[in-house]
Amino acid sequence: MLDADFDSALDAANELARAWLSGTDERPVTPSADAAAVLASLPVELPAAGLEPAAVLRELSACAEPGLAGTGSGRYLALVTGGVLPSALGADWLVSAWDQNASFGELYPAAVAIEHAAGRWILDLLDLPAEAAVGFTTGAQGANTATLLAARNAVLAAHDHDVEARGLQGAPRVNVVLGDEQHSTVFRSLRFAGLGADTAIRIPTDRRGRMIPSALRAALETLDGPTIVYAQAGNVNGGGFDPIAKIADIVDERRSRRSVEDTWFHIDGAFGLWVRAGNRYRALATGSERADSWTCDAHKWLNVPYDCGISIVRDPEVLARAIGLQAAYLPTPGGIPNPVDLVPEASRRARGIPVWAAIRALGRDGTATMIDRSCDRATELAGRLRHVVGVQVRAAVINQIIIRCAATPTQSADERTQAVLAAVLGEGICHPSSTVWKGEFGIRLSVSNWRTDEDDVNAIVASIERAVVGSA
Ligand SMILES: Cc1ncc(COP(=O)(O)O)c(C=O)c1O
Repeated sequence: MLDADFDSALDAANELARAWLSGTDERPVTPSADAAAVLASLPVELPAAGLEPAAVLRELSACAEPGLAGTGSGRYLALVTGGVLPSALGADWLVSAWDQNASFGELYPAAVAIEHAAGRWILDLLDLPAEAAVGFTTGAQGANTATLLAARNAVLAAHDHDVEARGLQGAPRVNVVLGDEQHSTVFRSLRFAGLGADTAIRIPTDRRGRMIPSALRAALETLDGPTIVYAQAGNVNGGGFDPIAKIADIVDERRSRRSVEDTWFHIDGAFGLWVRAGNRYRALATGSERADSWTCDAHKWLNVPYDCGISIVRDPEVLARAIGLQAAYLPTPGGIPNPVDLVPEASRRARGIPVWAAIRALGRDGTATMIDRSCDRATELAGRLRHVVGVQVRAAVINQIIIRCAATPTQSADERTQAVLAAVLGEGICHPSSTVWKGEFGIRLSVSNWRTDEDDVNAIVASIERAVVGSA
């Protein structure tokens, strides 16, 4: 059905969205329907006749709601899930209404300028070099890939191999050195980049998942040729940070031994880099400013809607050569780079605009408070869980917690932990997720939503306590 009745569609969307958001605190955080059930509720046959837009949205909402997770709740703790700030949500709606192709500044000046301004604020908040290029990718996976392509091409260029022209045909081997707790998306990016996931040299980590610097130094001493070194700011399980400043020193030692500039240093800080915008745990990421590229995520701790990652590369020309659409770095008038030279997409949504709105609403102080507050809530939560009989806190760093349950005469620790997680999810008060940490099944709790407050902490503890008592 084609008509220009935006009003009734937007009124319906507004009403449905507000009803969804206002029910966040009352509704179970776990979906009541699985994907198969939601699919079964959707029309199977493609209807011959269309429907007026408001009716479409009501039908959509009715089918979707049973299968929606309560990601907006302060008790939603799965993966690393930020909620949505009102400013970011409103801006996201405008992005759709404006429908700009945020790739080319000459055609879509507002979208490109606002994303550029958002990028500058990101560099400021994270205290990274002001000259770096900031691209808004779909997530940290995309950012890990974009930055890896820049890294790969740069270290090979130092050996006179032009990847842009020749690809990897006849290229020297690229050493990729990373901690054995590096996030799985980095290995996927290595596959995308033609470097192979299994060729990475894995450096052992300690009990918190942090790379052991002496092992890195020993490995680098044996490696010749183009080399990319990874560090991680925030382990997705235990929250641990690689010793970034020490790793930066080791990278510099290698550089000073060599005559070619063939070492690249990247930091994946999908959520952990945000501690640099806070006050409490900044020190954990000290030295990050010495890297060549960085991965971060706005849809995690900045609490903008999915999908919004952040890829940052110190030298914009290196990035543009590797992934840009033009042969060289061609800024738009006014010195603003075209996003088409910053991310691997051509046409794209202006996903950086909700980032701008979130930061504008929070300000520097509000951003710091939001990050520190999550860490405080997580510390409180871990402290309370330590006092629940039968619960062991296996890790608790910044906003990440892992717990596990003690064995009973009839259940192994793994079995009981699984039973407790199932009971918690069944109750629907809070939504942790599962993991395997240091070979043991665990329950992960990630406090990344701006809304998590003391009442939420009380409710989460009570829910876990009930499940633990019930499992004894
Ligand atoms: C360290 C790290 N890197 C990368 C990712 C992937 O992020 P995304 O799902 O946004 O692509 C995550 C996700 O949790 C992460 O923790």
